[in-house]
Amino acid sequence: ASTSATSVSIAGDISSQLHGGYSHPLARSWQAERQLTKSMLIYPLFISDQPDEETLIPSLPNQYRRGINKIVPFVEPLVHKGLKSVILFGVPLAPGSKDALGTAADDPQGPVIQAIRLLRARFPQLFITADVCLCEYTSHGHCGILREDGSLNNQLSVDRISDVAISYANAGAHCVAPSDMNDGRIRAIKLKLIEAGIAHKIVLMSYSAKFSGCLYGPFRDAAGSCPSFGDRKCYQLPPGGRGLARRAIARDIQEGADIIMVKPASSYLDIISDAKNIGKDMPIAAYQVSGEFAMIHAAAKAGVFNLKTMAFETMEGILRAGATIVVSYFTPEFLEWLSC
Ligand code: PBG
Ligand code: ZN
Repeated sequence: ASTSATSVSIAGDISSQLHGGYSHPLARSWQAERQLTKSMLIYPLFISDQPDEETLIPSLPNQYRRGINKIVPFVEPLVHKGLKSVILFGVPLAPGSKDALGTAADDPQGPVIQAIRLLRARFPQLFITADVCLCEYTSHGHCGILREDGSLNNQLSVDRISDVAISYANAGAHCVAPSDMNDGRIRAIKLKLIEAGIAHKIVLMSYSAKFSGCLYGPFRDAAGSCPSFGDRKCYQLPPGGRGLARRAIARDIQEGADIIMVKPASSYLDIISDAKNIGKDMPIAAYQVSGEFAMIHAAAKAGVFNLKTMAFETMEGILRAGATIVVSYFTPEFLEWLSC
């Protein structure tokens, strides 16, 4: 039998030939399990209690705190470009609006409830998530109600936070997302949703694996939610705590969460992957937080890389790890960059 050169090379080393499989842009896109699309993105909005406010947040590039009168003109063009979803954060600036109980959080005249009503009425297709926490509304800036020693009173905090969640849901939010990290809040909110007869139409997204660390600074500038003493290390997770994150994710699934969130995103890709494994049948969200966004902007400005290229590369990492939803301040840019 004659052995031609061709058959020898084929029999010899087929498994080394990978380049052909990604030789075209479309074939390259097929290498990813999931492609980033506009419907995966949730855009954070900071709503202040000053109706005509529109203030740039210096530490959070291109992001503004807006009053109720400035929201519709801002959101309208984004909706036309394909914006599907927003997450709302309230920012009370009026003197005297903060107290130890975070009373302003569910003020019917407050910015979040007003914004939910307005956005529901003006943009019927827009999916509205309300972040649920007390830190923007408490005089001490912590994410709950405190004991005299300054630690969180978990029971009082959960009672209060679940009431706030129900107020947002009743105002018309499609989704409530507690970010406070008190134990047992998912169960408490789910039970109150059931009791109120609205559990069937409200998505409950848990910030299950929310790590303490230094990446929330620009957000706290935007929301005015920096703790006046101490830090959040006794309720947000320690950055090394992978096992703790896995337990928190499993716990929140048990308690009735509909979506599991991991936050921050890029430094916690293993946790996103864990969430995908533990929550096999659930949507997994990742929050690319303010510090990650500011860091990418700063590095691009310093000439380290091109902003758009890096924005896509971070998204590809987040999706590859297992996320199906991404909360990102890059959303307006992605609406320009993506075709669907
Ligand atoms: C409030 C909250 C924070 C973020 C989302 N909800 C800040 C914090 O926990 O201090 C961070 C978002 C970001 O940094 O973009 N509980
Ligand atoms: Zn908080």
